[in-house]
Amino acid sequence: MANLFLFLILAIGFLSCCQNLVSSQVINGNDDDDDLITLLAIGKELRLLDWGDNNGLKNTSNYCLWPHITCNSNQSFVEKLVLSHLSLQGNLTLISQLKSLKWLDLSFNTFHGSIPQSFGNSLSDLEVLDLSYNKFDGSIPIELGKLRNLKSLNLSNNLLIGSIPDELQGLVKLQDFQIFTNHLNGSIPIWVGNLTKLRVFTAYENELSGEIPETLGSVSELRLLNLHSNYLEGSIPKSVFAMGKLESLVLTQNKLSGSLPESIGKCKDLSSIRIGDNDLIGNIPREIGNLSSLTYFEADNNNLSGEIVWEFAQCANLTLLNLASNGFSGSIPPVFGQMNNLQELLVSGNSLFGEIPTSVLSNKNLNKIDLSNNRFNGSIPQSVCNSSRLQYLLLGQNSLIGEIPHEIGNCAKLLELQLGGNYLTGTIPPEIGRIKNLQIALNLSFNHLHGQLPSDLGKLDKLVSLDLSNNQLTGNIPLALKGMLSLIDVNFANNHLTGPIPTFAPFQKSPNSSFWRNEGLCGYPLNSLCGNSNDSNDTFHHKVSYRIVLAVIGSGLLVFVSVTVVVVLFMMREKQEKAAKTVGNEDEEIDDNNNKPLIIAGNVFVENLKQAIDFDAVVKATLKDSNKISSGTFSTIYKAEMPSGLTLSVKRLKSVDKTILNQQNKMIRELERLSNLCHDNLIRPIGFAIYEDVALLLHQFLPNGTLAQFLHESSKEPVYKPDWPVRLSIAVGVAEGLAFLHHLAIIHLDISSGNVFLDSNFKPMVGEVEISKLLDPSRGTASISAVAGSFGYIPPEYAYTMQVTAPGNVYSFGVVLLEILTTRVPVDEEFGEGVDLVKWVQGAPSRGETPEQILDAKLSTVSFGWRKEMLAGLKVALMCTDTTPAKRPKMKKVVEMLQEITENK
Ligand SMILES: *[C@@H]1O[C@H](CO)[C@@H](O)[C@H](O)[C@H]1NC(C)=O
Ligand SMILES: *[C@@H]1O[C@H](CO)[C@@H](O)[C@H](O)[C@H]1NC(C)=O
Ligand SMILES: *[C@@H]1O[C@H](CO)[C@@H](O)[C@H](O)[C@H]1NC(C)=O
Ligand SMILES: *[C@@H]1O[C@H](CO)[C@@H](O)[C@H](O)[C@H]1NC(C)=O
Ligand SMILES: *[C@@H]1O[C@H](CO)[C@@H](O)[C@H](O)[C@H]1NC(C)=O
Ligand SMILES: *[C@@H]1O[C@H](CO)[C@@H](O)[C@H](O)[C@H]1NC(C)=O
Ligand SMILES: *[C@@H]1O[C@H](CO)[C@@H](O)[C@H](O)[C@H]1NC(C)=O
Ligand SMILES: *[C@@H]1O[C@H](CO)[C@@H](O)[C@H](O)[C@H]1NC(C)=O
Repeated sequence: MANLFLFLILAIGFLSCCQNLVSSQVINGNDDDDDLITLLAIGKELRLLDWGDNNGLKNTSNYCLWPHITCNSNQSFVEKLVLSHLSLQGNLTLISQLKSLKWLDLSFNTFHGSIPQSFGNSLSDLEVLDLSYNKFDGSIPIELGKLRNLKSLNLSNNLLIGSIPDELQGLVKLQDFQIFTNHLNGSIPIWVGNLTKLRVFTAYENELSGEIPETLGSVSELRLLNLHSNYLEGSIPKSVFAMGKLESLVLTQNKLSGSLPESIGKCKDLSSIRIGDNDLIGNIPREIGNLSSLTYFEADNNNLSGEIVWEFAQCANLTLLNLASNGFSGSIPPVFGQMNNLQELLVSGNSLFGEIPTSVLSNKNLNKIDLSNNRFNGSIPQSVCNSSRLQYLLLGQNSLIGEIPHEIGNCAKLLELQLGGNYLTGTIPPEIGRIKNLQIALNLSFNHLHGQLPSDLGKLDKLVSLDLSNNQLTGNIPLALKGMLSLIDVNFANNHLTGPIPTFAPFQKSPNSSFWRNEGLCGYPLNSLCGNSNDSNDTFHHKVSYRIVLAVIGSGLLVFVSVTVVVVLFMMREKQEKAAKTVGNEDEEIDDNNNKPLIIAGNVFVENLKQAIDFDAVVKATLKDSNKISSGTFSTIYKAEMPSGLTLSVKRLKSVDKTILNQQNKMIRELERLSNLCHDNLIRPIGFAIYEDVALLLHQFLPNGTLAQFLHESSKEPVYKPDWPVRLSIAVGVAEGLAFLHHLAIIHLDISSGNVFLDSNFKPMVGEVEISKLLDPSRGTASISAVAGSFGYIPPEYAYTMQVTAPGNVYSFGVVLLEILTTRVPVDEEFGEGVDLVKWVQGAPSRGETPEQILDAKLSTVSFGWRKEMLAGLKVALMCTDTTPAKRPKMKKVVEMLQEITENK
């Protein structure tokens, strides 16, 4: 009898085991239901809608099949719980009942309050704990020290205070320890040296003080040490380099003193050293030459001295060498010319002398050389741009003599040329006008230049800042300078110029000090009137009063303010879309060999992506409707997966202007240039492909969609999470991106929340920048004189000025800001006929509504602090959307005002 029982039990056990393996979907494979009950309770507390029976799915009780959960191999308990990027908050204490948990990832949510002590008391099997990117406050619970199996602990990007508790020294298996961006204080504990398995230790952006412990030297596996932006003092301990495995050392922005130890030479794998903004003294040890992997060396703003050691040249991979603002003397070692990978050499603000190192200038990868504020003498070599990709040539405030060589015209890629504050003589070579890319600044001030201004300067149509002051220049200001369409800052003061100041907006808008001390100059903005001016108002401000035809397309959300050309564009677009549709509908699998369009031109600007991008795959992706991500005024965006595994976002230009295609080279150059314009909040083109009359622009793929989706689609979900700080930081980011564009005199053509993309950290990136550049009517790159934008974002004055302006951009930004504050779309029937979001908000007082009734109440009622910040934001938005363009603040000012809101917390 007993045997039979045993047999039965075994048989049942075997059967259920098989069933588990064969059809674990059908049967509940969990041994006991403790975890199930716990998980259901967690799901309820955190409002996870895809768990349990909330969603009406059949497989409710087998939690091993639920999303975010991984069970152990025989499906008996939860081993891994990954709840990242879900905007969750709530009480986490329940999670500690999942006692077998090995991996817990709660990163990128909005959990607040202190980290539950019970994690440390109960989850003794835990190997990975990731609580980063939340709002946990309080101190690090000492109970975490009980998690003896922990290999990876990530508490970074929270609001933690207090010191690193000594109890954590029990975590002897720890390999990765990340606590950056908190408010931790006290010192780095000595026992860190006992964590012998440690590979990664990051504690940057905290309030840590005291010295870096010597004991780090016993952490033999340490690869990455990043402690920047703290209050650390004392010297960099020799022992840090003793074990020789270090790959990256970042100690920037502390109060470290003493000198850089010679033992640094032991770290053959050290590729990045960043020790700027400290109080370091002494020489750079010659052993630096042993670091064969060294790629970045950044030690600016210290008190380092002695010569710049030639041994740097042995580091064949060195890409950036920044020794600016120190006490270095001597000259630049000529062997630096052998550093083939050197892209940036920054040594401004030292006491260096000698000739400009011609050998360095011939480095073919050199992008930026900054020798300013030293005592370099000799003349500018004729070979200055013989074979270089130089974009920044900064030689200001030195003792250079001689003439500016005509060969300066070879510096075709230069964005900035600073030669001010030297002893240069001779005339301004007209070849400077050949540097068509020059856009940031041309500064020849405080020299001894004489002669006339070459009219070729007028060809610099991208230049923003021109300073020729304090020389001995003579003659008239040539009318040709009106070609400098992007000019904002000019300075001609203290020369011997004569004649009338040409009528040219950038001149007349300048302060009169820009023309001072030129006895012979007359006209506005100087007070001296000219006699008969032979200069007449010209067409720079072509305020064309076209009759406007509004064409509301499709849903009525897109508007083209059109002139005849648009009709042509429109037809072309339709033709293309039809073509795309027919191809797309034929079959999802298009034959590779048939219908394969011939790529006329294509390039990938980013070197290390060249291999990964396949143009045929790019084209194919844009022919499938299922890949479509979004549709803007000028373009449709597709997702494209490369055979290499890389995912791209591909923009297919809708209104492909024929002239653009005819002027392909111009467009390609423009794109290439834009790909060099780096800003955190702008999407950079990484390449393009052209076939037939279609242009495809390649960008990085941003999985979090657009701001429009974030605001207007997620809010419909029941798990809508109010998060004002994220929204505010998005507003700041967008404003910063636009301010950067405006600084370069680039006006955006289509600012809308649909053109703001979000990366995985919700950092906003403004898209369609290149369209603005390619189609900008004021630049004459295109015959199209259409002003376009998305309905609801178009400033009222565009209706009669037909001119795209910076204040117009500010207006559109104001609309985006209102969307962020109100969670309402720019055009909504609810507002009433002819009323858009701006008019609706402006009309609130007359309707007897308070600002609070305008703001999204789900946000503004969360806390008094949020409400206050939102009201401040509303004030900014109202200034931006002022009906009078001149009353709107500059984008730069908008950034400041928004930042003030963030800072006044
Ligand atoms: C239920 O099972 C189906 C099919 O196996 C799966 O697609 C779905 O995600 C599961 N649902 C849950 C809540 O696990
Ligand atoms: C499942 O595996 C765990 C170890 O991972 C073991 O302790 C447990 O007894 C196993 N359960 C079954 C039903 O096999
Ligand atoms: C979280 O829930 C536990 C019980 O599950 C309770 O003891 C604790 O006080 C709660 N914490 C907070 C912050 O509400
Ligand atoms: C937290 O740190 C661990 C260990 O370094 C790392 O693997 C993980 O990606 C980090 N988490 C986030 C969200 O970056
Ligand atoms: C660290 O911060 C806590 C609270 O913020 C404070 O009470 C403590 O005095 C600080 N300790 C040090 C060493 O500054
Ligand atoms: C840490 O290491 C030191 C010697 O390096 C030793 O004296 C000390 O007991 C160790 N501490 C722990 C907690 O193991
Ligand atoms: C230099 O860089 C190249 C390419 O990144 C790499 O293959 C090479 O190993 C590096 N050299 C050293 C000494 O690290
Ligand atoms: C130039 O235009 C302005 C207004 O646009 C006008 O006031 C001024 O008289 C004009 N000057 C000349 C010389 O035509």
